[in-house]
Amino acid sequence: MIQENIRSKFPLLDVEVHGRQLVYLDNAATTQKPLSVIEALDDYYRRRNANIHRGAYHLAAAATEAYEAVRRQVQSFIGARHAHEVVFTRGTTESINLVASSFAKRYFKGSDEVIVSGMEHHSDIVPWQLAGATLRPIPFSDEGVLDVDAYERLFTPQTRLVAVCHVSNTLGTVNPVRRMVEIAHAHGVPVLVDGAQAVAHLKVDVQEIGCDFYCFSGHKMYGPMGVGVMYGREEILGELPPYQGGGEMIETVTFERTTYNQLPYKFEAGTPSVGDVVALGKAIEFMLQVGVGNIASHEEDLLQYATQQLLQLPAVRIYGTAPGKASVISFLVGQAHPYDVGTLIDQLGIAVRTGHHCTQPVMDRYGIPGTVRASFAVYNTHSEVDRFIDALNRVIPMLQ
Ligand code: ALA
Repeated sequence: MIQENIRSKFPLLDVEVHGRQLVYLDNAATTQKPLSVIEALDDYYRRRNANIHRGAYHLAAAATEAYEAVRRQVQSFIGARHAHEVVFTRGTTESINLVASSFAKRYFKGSDEVIVSGMEHHSDIVPWQLAGATLRPIPFSDEGVLDVDAYERLFTPQTRLVAVCHVSNTLGTVNPVRRMVEIAHAHGVPVLVDGAQAVAHLKVDVQEIGCDFYCFSGHKMYGPMGVGVMYGREEILGELPPYQGGGEMIETVTFERTTYNQLPYKFEAGTPSVGDVVALGKAIEFMLQVGVGNIASHEEDLLQYATQQLLQLPAVRIYGTAPGKASVISFLVGQAHPYDVGTLIDQLGIAVRTGHHCTQPVMDRYGIPGTVRASFAVYNTHSEVDRFIDALNRVIPMLQ
């Protein structure tokens, strides 16, 4: 019943593809949006649009307040100590690039190592390479569990930072980030957590995790594309130089010298995507109304249901079986290319992702070209899982 109530809030779920009702199982790539988010965007541009932090007139002040109110909402949602520790960005990728660029300028010495997990998304690998770091990957088991003992052995005097995903977008593993932060801090090394796949699925408390940075995107948590968050602890953010120069991030500018604005504005150069931030606030409201615990238990139920049925199918192999994993199932069918599986079930209305999922090192670890990935959200149902399994049953004979 709750499920029907929730589904009715998501207009896109009524779309038909190839003459069939869509079954959307690509939620790790992006979630669909509730009406409250869609309407907030529409309302912002119809009635509320003005540039923020700049105008003395009513509309500008109201837009500024709406934007800053969402900063406080995010602060509370992730348990940050201060609202000014929340920086709005375009998404997780920009958040990590911001940290990598500014952190390297401040702390890199010319021979610098960053420890990453072996299951990192490319967006938590490449920015560190661009910043000049040598990467030290933490190995993981066949099940997809990080080797914490090996992690401890990776620290050297050149280790500047640990960057690790909270939840793997490919394997679903929920990494022991709190323990990993304790270990890193014992070595005097700060930690960035990529929370892109976590915030929509489990309760995140950045103070409890103890991390120095936590990055995530709005669009994977029922919010709009083009907006995300870089949380940084006040003490460390205060030490970092700006990422981009422009309006808003300055205090004074002369041709000789510029001084920078206070946190968080130092990191928000230019006009931000105000409407998207306002709509992100509605996405957070939606998640809180449903309850993050209810979202997590519903997805866990779907994960178990789908996993059991998948394992009954001939020649299906699941990649990522860590205990307590999140609602992501990566799999292959016999020797079939994942793209063929995805294309065939698309004809039956099922949307899943296929390929390397921006985690090529994970594919290399298993010696495979990619996987088919089904990922669940709060609006998915048992009957959608049934349609997914039925579709696979129908296409498997064509694949062998
Ligand atoms: N990082 C997103 C995914 O895993 C796009 O699909």
